[in-house]
Amino acid sequence: MQIVTVAIQKGGTGKTTTAATLAQAAAYKNKKVLAIDLDPQGNLSFCLGATGQARFTSYDLITASAAPRILKTPCGADLIPSAWELSNLKSEKGSARRLQTAIKNYFSKGYDFIIIDTPPTAGELQYNALQASTDLIIPLAADIYNLQSLYQITAAARQIQQSNKSLRIAGIVITKADTRSTIARQMREQIIETAANDNIPCLGIIRTGIAIQEAAALQKSIYEYAPNSNPAQDYLSLLDQITR
Ligand SMILES: Nc1ncnc2c1ncn2[C@@H]1O[C@H](COP(=O)(O)OP(=O)(O)OP(=O)(O)O)[C@@H](O)[C@H]1O
Ligand SMILES: [Mg+2]
Repeated sequence: MQIVTVAIQKGGTGKTTTAATLAQAAAYKNKKVLAIDLDPQGNLSFCLGATGQARFTSYDLITASAAPRILKTPCGADLIPSAWELSNLKSEKGSARRLQTAIKNYFSKGYDFIIIDTPPTAGELQYNALQASTDLIIPLAADIYNLQSLYQITAAARQIQQSNKSLRIAGIVITKADTRSTIARQMREQIIETAANDNIPCLGIIRTGIAIQEAAALQKSIYEYAPNSNPAQDYLSLLDQITR
């Protein structure tokens, strides 16, 4: 089973959109997928259609406080939604392995893949996600500040690889790509080249499309709302690229 974390220590690069749309794409392709929202902001939970107070959250999963209950979402993906308490998790010796243990105990069978969304900061939640995962996907918008963040997340992942030998840095994904502007294309090429020099492949380029924001606001799957839109198509290609 593939366990994919979407992470980078930078806000607004398209982590949640990537996690949500990959979950929707996988469900659309009739795969069994579980999405875990590890960001206290709860954007993934919202985007996948969660409403109201959840009876079981990713906080409960990490703290092993009860047996998991799964939320079925309209797009067909299963979800463990986030909780504000996530921001209170303290790190102690061995605490970065809590999510890995929970996934092993409860979800070692039954899913084709698990996708984990993370907050834009380094720390306990990001380390738990990386420790539990087989693949790291790094979404980057074509922006020079994003390059700095690339070094930080790959350094964190290489650190975690010492204790999680299954983790691979699958690659970067360019998000919110403006295919018409020359400067945006040059910036993209620079980011892709910089990553390649560090042996990190580019898994795909996701074009900007307003439909993805509209679908999120309506809590609908893009594959229901606008299946032919550019981002919907680009995320299907990305799913092909990452699933083994
Ligand atoms: N391909 C796209 N086309 C248009 N808008 C996009 C696209 N991808 C992401 N966005 C928009 O960019 C904004 C930031 O995306 P998103 O919330 O996924 O980033 P994030 O990295 O999860 O942010 P945070 O760090 O706050 O968790 C959102 O408004 C989202 O709708
Ligand atoms: Mg997010």
